Amino acid sequence: MAQKTIRILGIESSCDETAAAIVEDGRRIVSDYISTQIDIHKQYGGVFPEVASRQHVLAVYPVIEEAMNRAHMSFSDIDAIAVTRGPGLAGSLVVGMNAAKGLAFSTGLPLIGINHLEGHIYSSWVYSDQDETVPDEPEFPAIVLLVSGGHSEIILLKDHLKYERLGGTLDDAAGEAFDKTARLLGLEYPGGPSIQKAAANGDPYSYRFNIAKMPGTYDFSFSGVKTSVLRTVEKLKKDGSRLNVPDLAASFQKCVVNTLFEKTLRAAREYEAKNIVIAGGVSANKCLRDTFMGQNEFRVFIPKLSYCTDNGAMIGAAGYRRFMAGQRDGMDMDVYPNWPLSRVSL
Ligand code: KG4
Ligand code: ZN
Repeated sequence: MAQKTIRILGIESSCDETAAAIVEDGRRIVSDYISTQIDIHKQYGGVFPEVASRQHVLAVYPVIEEAMNRAHMSFSDIDAIAVTRGPGLAGSLVVGMNAAKGLAFSTGLPLIGINHLEGHIYSSWVYSDQDETVPDEPEFPAIVLLVSGGHSEIILLKDHLKYERLGGTLDDAAGEAFDKTARLLGLEYPGGPSIQKAAANGDPYSYRFNIAKMPGTYDFSFSGVKTSVLRTVEKLKKDGSRLNVPDLAASFQKCVVNTLFEKTLRAAREYEAKNIVIAGGVSANKCLRDTFMGQNEFRVFIPKLSYCTDNGAMIGAAGYRRFMAGQRDGMDMDVYPNWPLSRVSL
């Protein structure tokens, strides 16, 4: 007898996107909808937490409703509600969490709290009906490079939901470094896409920025490279030279991408990984994608562009794995704004 299809409603509100999606069996996206606040936060040059929470309050139910309508489904078609519990902005997380609790209470459906980073990892499992074929899924063990606005980690993924953190940033996250560097180059928020755009017309070998190598570890440090760009900009200004933003952006981008690439590859070799999985907002970066795709030692999985940054499908996909593993959370579940992946348990 064919196995019953499991459908999870995934809800995400950890930062500046309110998102909901319905995912079947941890892979097929039946519907998804994202309401982004980027245009609102642009004027502040970054995410303004209080404004973000209020926007989530306005968006959360309409976004969930839109995802349900697009799927032509009612709650009787859904098996569980998965929601981002952390890490993220406390006030933003609370909005998604309370909406999920309200729905779970009124429908009687199970509630499952998801770690946002775990969600990002599962973006490599999802596909939609727009894809021509059902894509392969990553094989274990895999090395995950998780690079977002708040995190930069190298993780050994031994099996579904089984991780070992090998290293990570000691200061700024990779996305944060893009955002801060963009700001000092006068580029708009979010910095990653702005730097990528500016870098398209620049020479990546025009400047050499210092980046900490942290030899013998899988750790990163990105605050120094940002300072190195700052010093260069200050010197150029002092000398009365014109700021060549495309060259500066391209050199910065190349420097960060090379470091991420070298460490990830080294980890994949050491742990004899079958695949490399890249996740998080920075995985949208073209230079990073091209660099990883330009080697053929390891098969690399990178989500489609629309699933690199925050979305509900990744929460639905991770929610499926946790649903199958038996996780059920109670109404007393609270948000966990600093939840490291190492503290996630089954
Ligand atoms: O995963 P995400 O949407 O949110 C967090 O969980 O943090 O990641 C957002 C981060 C931002 O720092 C943004 O600048 C960066 O991802 N980002 C990029 C690109 N698109 C988004 N960084 C580099 N290149 C991009 N194309
Ligand atoms: Zn994220």
